[in-house]
Amino acid sequence: MQRRNFLKSIAAGTALAGLPPGVRATNASWGDQFASGLARHPWMLGYQSATDQDYGATAEIRGKWPNELVGTLYRNGPAQHDVYGYRYRHWFDGDGMLQAFNMDGTGVSHHAKLIETHKVVAERQAQRALYPGFASVPPNPAPVTGPDIVNVANISVLHHHDKLLALWEAGSPWEMDPDSLETEGTYAFSENTQGVPFSAHPRVEADGTLWNFGYLSGAHLLVLWHIDAKGKVVKMGKITADPITMVHDFVVTERHLVLMLPPLNYEATGPSSFLDAHKWHADEPTRVLVIDKSDFDNHFWLELPSQWVFHYGNGWEDEQGVIRFDAARAPDPLVMMDSFREIMRGNVVPGSISHHHEYQIDTKNRRITEAPMFGMNVESEFPCVDPRISCRRNSRLTMLSRNSLKPAPAHTSLNEVSTFDFDSGERAFYRYPDSQIPEEHLFVPRPGSKPETEGWVIGSALDWQQQKTLLNVFNAEAVQDGPVATATLPYHLPLGLHGKFVHG
Ligand SMILES: [Fe+2]
Repeated sequence: MQRRNFLKSIAAGTALAGLPPGVRATNASWGDQFASGLARHPWMLGYQSATDQDYGATAEIRGKWPNELVGTLYRNGPAQHDVYGYRYRHWFDGDGMLQAFNMDGTGVSHHAKLIETHKVVAERQAQRALYPGFASVPPNPAPVTGPDIVNVANISVLHHHDKLLALWEAGSPWEMDPDSLETEGTYAFSENTQGVPFSAHPRVEADGTLWNFGYLSGAHLLVLWHIDAKGKVVKMGKITADPITMVHDFVVTERHLVLMLPPLNYEATGPSSFLDAHKWHADEPTRVLVIDKSDFDNHFWLELPSQWVFHYGNGWEDEQGVIRFDAARAPDPLVMMDSFREIMRGNVVPGSISHHHEYQIDTKNRRITEAPMFGMNVESEFPCVDPRISCRRNSRLTMLSRNSLKPAPAHTSLNEVSTFDFDSGERAFYRYPDSQIPEEHLFVPRPGSKPETEGWVIGSALDWQQQKTLLNVFNAEAVQDGPVATATLPYHLPLGLHGKFVHG
């Protein structure tokens, strides 16, 4: 073998050794690789870039739309994945698009609009990808002058004190016009909190009290937010976390805030992306931070085996001071580190499966325990409860699921919507057809009903065969019967993340 070829094969072998299983080394662009993956796996339509920046249509209704279900489902998610010829290297890098499914009791109209962040505006002007993102670093990147210049506003949406806010994880909320979906600009809850990270999963109690956190990786700090129903900052706090990690969601009870810090440590060592600045330490514990709501300085730490949680359903606390909460628990964050990266270039790389777990924290004796809720054949994600019971004792849970004992769907996402009754221990579920990929489903209460009684489960899905996005409504008492009505749009949108229903 000639020396040059020998060196080439060594280099190729080294590169291959660093790739997840199933990924072939190639010189093709990520855009070309994704096009090839999409041809092999048509369900990857959900990861294709939005074809437009503004959508609007009246949905076709099948079944009878409940006439009491009046309001708007706002949804957010990464939607623009290719920017002037540069394809992002991770699903979470896509520029956010806000959607509104407006329900008037008889039908559904839909509107979606790209969120006009500083980054979107600057890149449109420059006609090129400018800024590094979560896991993407475009060629010749522009300097990052602050978190909001790279804030893609693409994770979730919050409706609070008559404001509609699109949320990211590491920067400010973006204020949106709830009717036109026009972007008003970044939002600050007070002059002193301009640009302070406000995570994508704030918890709002029934009286409108809002709690949230943010993390500042470089400063090894967690910040804590307490905001009243009118949007006024009641209290801010900060707690040092060293090492610092990514924290996506948290738990709020009557008396405490609970944050789990998995051992995905921030170890910035050079010009890598934010994700690549983190290292997974499987042999280190997941730290659990329990904070007194009335005094942020009063907090303690517990430990669990290493694990990764994106989302919690709900948390509450009994009079003996025992906190209970549920979470979609994975052994590690490989789905984020590998699967959601490789899918952007058309590769299917299985990630670790998340199973729903119930946790208990004895705050007096400072002990924590965890146990699986449904057996290890039921995969779960996107848990939620009746918003009126948030941060209080709940007896129901709505979530997406997948049963590993059943034949796998044609795609790699979850394929069931489930409701669980804690009192009876019964789980009801509806399995989506393989041609459809369900997105987050929410419990929407019937107006005037008591918490966790009557209502609907609503959720969107991508029908990748028809190339259409649809919205389903189920009777919350009987999801197993399938949707009572379906609103089908004349187009499809990329798979998104989180939404909120606002009653009309
Ligand atoms: Fe989330």
